[in-house]
Amino acid sequence: MSADEPLLRLDDVEVHFERKRGLIDRVLRTPGGKTVKAVDGVSLDIAENDVVALVGESGCGKTTLGKTAVALQRPTGGSVTYRGQDVWNAKDGKGDVEIPYEEIRRSLQIIHQDPGSSLNPNKTIMKSLQAPLKKWQPSLSPKDRRTRVLGMLEHVGMAPPDDYANRYPHQLSGGEKQRTALVRALLMNPDVILADEAVSALDVSLRVEMMDLLLDLQNEFGTSFVFVSHNLSNARYLAQKAGGRIAVMYLGRIVEVGTAEELLGNPRHPYTKVLRWATADLDPDKARAGAPPVRKIDIPDPSNPPSGCRFHTRCPKAREVCVRENPDLRPHSEDPSSHAASCFRQFRNGEHEYWTSPELTDAPNVDEIRSDGNAIETS
Ligand SMILES: Nc1ncnc2c1ncn2[C@@H]1O[C@H](COP(=O)(O)OP(=O)(O)OP(=O)(O)O)[C@@H](O)[C@H]1O
Ligand code: SF4
Ligand SMILES: [Mg+2]
Repeated sequence: MSADEPLLRLDDVEVHFERKRGLIDRVLRTPGGKTVKAVDGVSLDIAENDVVALVGESGCGKTTLGKTAVALQRPTGGSVTYRGQDVWNAKDGKGDVEIPYEEIRRSLQIIHQDPGSSLNPNKTIMKSLQAPLKKWQPSLSPKDRRTRVLGMLEHVGMAPPDDYANRYPHQLSGGEKQRTALVRALLMNPDVILADEAVSALDVSLRVEMMDLLLDLQNEFGTSFVFVSHNLSNARYLAQKAGGRIAVMYLGRIVEVGTAEELLGNPRHPYTKVLRWATADLDPDKARAGAPPVRKIDIPDPSNPPSGCRFHTRCPKAREVCVRENPDLRPHSEDPSSHAASCFRQFRNGEHEYWTSPELTDAPNVDEIRSDGNAIETS
């Protein structure tokens, strides 16, 4: 791996799902056979000891992108490299494979929203946790395996570990199952863990406890986390404490990325403003002030996304050029840090056609949106 090679690099990744014409399509005489562009041109680097929180509304492609990052989903376009090795070339045995696919698989782990799904209901916790160790570290003696499992259970606060190890999954609470799933992932000594809505199902107090645990472990083991959440508060909590980034997704694309402070303190993309508005507990006084900063509430169909900038159908700042052209993710001219957004408004007035392009005539009255007199910046 060269010095400037990140741990994981996603380069112009696409994941398009072909939806076959099914029975319902035939009954309803709908065409079917559509392509869902779940991820459509995403580039993202993940460094060692990094935390990236992916946020966005349901169906925007968070899980698909997360799974693609940890090599559980093959992209239909672009590439994913782990320490400079193309993941899918390794899987297919193409070219000079420097890192075997099995090694990549072990290094990239996942914990799901439903932690029970990774635990066999008929096996004790000890048996479930020993199984992957047997596979990946066959040289460990049974005694060492046991010691490793008990040590990790204790580490995540499941004490006395012997008691938990002898239980079956149904004898654990939701939070305990989630900790067990985390132990299962950590036992692989991974470089990256994808935590897909891993705290969403937990009570608020347990959620914070679990996020703190993730942060402690990230600190201690240097594991990078890709944290998927539809909740911007959770994303902010993790990204801020870990010094990581938040990446906002909209219809298969990352539309803004930056530190929690940059992204929430000074959101550049109109969609990030919507998310901030919708997350009341971020800043109760400011966030919900006024009506939502969108023109339409309905979410477009991911199999038929809008042309140009995909947010143009909802964006209160959209102009005609936004219907034709797709803005790249670029740093703001005054703020060339890690903070980047894909909106023509990133250009200075005079540097892009956006500023002279006519406003969209189909825009519902912006005054209507602002009928309560609250300021929604329109310039
Ligand atoms: N295996 C699949 N086959 C076909 N379409 C899929 C498949 N997996 C996901 N999709 C579609 O891709 C889009 C993105 O789905 P994805 O699960 O990545 O979204 P998400 O942001 O994780 O949503 P949620 O917050 O609801 O979990 C959706 O339109 C979904 O229906
Ligand atoms: S490019 Fe245009 S439509 Fe897209 S977010 Fe920016 S102003 Fe809105
Ligand atoms: Mg999901």
